[in-house]
Amino acid sequence: MCGIVGYIGTQVASEILLSGLEKLEYRGYDSAGIALIWEGQTQTIRAKGKLNNLREKLMGVDIPARVGIGHTRWATHGKPEEYNAHPHMDTAMRVAVVQNGIIENYRELRETLKAKGHQFRSDTDTEVIPHLIAEYLKSVDGSGGSPFLEAVRQAVNELEGAFAIAVVCADYPDELIVARQQAPLVLGFGQGEFFCASDTPALIPHTRAVLPLENGELARLTPLGAEVYSFGGERVQKYPRTLNWNPVLVEKQGFRHFMLKEIYEQPGVVRTCLEAYLNPDWEANQESPIKLGLPEHFYQDLEQVQILACGTSWHASLVGKYLLEQLAEVPTMVQYASEFRYAPPPITANTLTIGVTQSGETADTLAALAMEQQRRSGKTSQYQARLLGITNRPESSLAQMVAQIIDTHAGIEIGVAATKTFVAQLMAFYFLALDLAYRRQTLPLERIAEIIAGLRQLPAEVELILESQERYIEELAHEFNETQDFIFLGRGINFPIALEGALKLKEISYIHAEGYPAGEMKHGPIALLDAKVPVVAIAMPGSLYEKVLSNAQEAKARDARLIGVTPKDVPQATEIFDDLLPVPKMEELLSPILTVIPLQLLAYHIAARRGLDVDQPRNLAKSVTVE
Ligand code: F6R
Repeated sequence: MCGIVGYIGTQVASEILLSGLEKLEYRGYDSAGIALIWEGQTQTIRAKGKLNNLREKLMGVDIPARVGIGHTRWATHGKPEEYNAHPHMDTAMRVAVVQNGIIENYRELRETLKAKGHQFRSDTDTEVIPHLIAEYLKSVDGSGGSPFLEAVRQAVNELEGAFAIAVVCADYPDELIVARQQAPLVLGFGQGEFFCASDTPALIPHTRAVLPLENGELARLTPLGAEVYSFGGERVQKYPRTLNWNPVLVEKQGFRHFMLKEIYEQPGVVRTCLEAYLNPDWEANQESPIKLGLPEHFYQDLEQVQILACGTSWHASLVGKYLLEQLAEVPTMVQYASEFRYAPPPITANTLTIGVTQSGETADTLAALAMEQQRRSGKTSQYQARLLGITNRPESSLAQMVAQIIDTHAGIEIGVAATKTFVAQLMAFYFLALDLAYRRQTLPLERIAEIIAGLRQLPAEVELILESQERYIEELAHEFNETQDFIFLGRGINFPIALEGALKLKEISYIHAEGYPAGEMKHGPIALLDAKVPVVAIAMPGSLYEKVLSNAQEAKARDARLIGVTPKDVPQATEIFDDLLPVPKMEELLSPILTVIPLQLLAYHIAARRGLDVDQPRNLAKSVTVE
């Protein structure tokens, strides 16, 4: 977590750093700070709390420096106080460092450095880095190169953990040094100016030419160029790539919050996915209906799929499991990446492992995949890792680590609560399941064609829900001002949507909410129900429709207020439910893309109504890059 930015060039650095931090604030917002090199000094300005506090402090400061670094913090070591805010400096206040990640061996380093006379001012792990660099600067031999680069290189070789850093020093005013080890860092290339950031949204207002650093690489940025080196000191030749993102994606465009804007972007996202992955000529050419571009060996004798993910991506993966098993008949296991790491199941043969992460940077998911790769290496060919990533970020660490990705094409998501990226992940699973069903001949071609026709209807149906429901849901949200608990029920393919509805509500409104498979209610959770606990039931006509309705009635008999996510012109539904969040009729198999939309809107409006910070809920960060 945490966001870091850096700038060196000809413009006033503080403005660029501040606007970069704005774009990264979703990564952490406990405190923020910048360091500038000006008139032979390293000047830091830091503030506790949100970025606005730093912005206010900077109003009275006129430092037209052309080089600097910035940070927005999600506290790991040390309370969110100003003295723990980054940038951190060495004893002589020459070297300043911002870091995203965790330095695991900071205690030992701190003791050694203290014994050498270094004075520490914070409780953070990061502070050892400027002291260590300062220590190396005393003795370093740049051998004709940059002593500053060499000191940083030697220092990073002593650090254990996952980190991305940016470093400036008053004694080297024309250099900005950055390094990456298991935490994201992207360089941006401008005209006579260079940038670095934890994530690309901070760069795209300035440049679309970007270069993601790889693990074990550091770079020296000067106004004249960018040089990349390995931690071993060898120069690495690398070339930037061009992002095709539109800068308006990172603006609110008249919406009150990014989350609402992103909810409204979903019809477009589904359309883009359909365009990217449907093969229009599949019937004529007798090819798979889906063009994913996966290597042939991924499909070879496939016996099992295992999916590793966290949070909302884990919910999407549960829908994926349903689809892969029911359409393509591949046994599929979904694991929390954080659990898998410490209790992996025995290795199975001919297994496709899928890491699902919208950010492509979630530490647990990356570590679980790396572990899977490692424990399968050296085994016979049927046990070799087949690693696939499903991500919204083709430039992410995930993409660098797996053999192949499915890019979900959702465009950058700024709201911390995932919405459009979730729907895009569901689309990826529909495509993968259909591709496998075709290749394994588990579905008749007519059925595949029918499902594809249904998928094509989805963008218009999502639009319909947004147009017809938002006002009503906004009104309804007022009635839950005092509510403290919610229950979400679903079954089959809509059970994960119940989990997702509950997660959306709790993360942005701080209301306690639980998602259950509707049939499980009577095995315990039903004891929670009374008139104060609303129950949202997802009831889509299909194999489980009657069952969900009778489970809902069991809740109603306990005085719960029943809210139904269901088509409106079904008479039983209107009788049973106290409130309806109607969705168009759609076959159950495709309904998750529709049923999740009213749940997103409900969570959004309840939170917005309570005056909460919907886009940056407390304690959360968009990319969880620490374990
Ligand atoms: C919830 C949410 C989180 C993420 C989780 C995994 O709205 O966004 O639960 O889904 O942190 O993130 P990614 O998908 O980036 O791996």
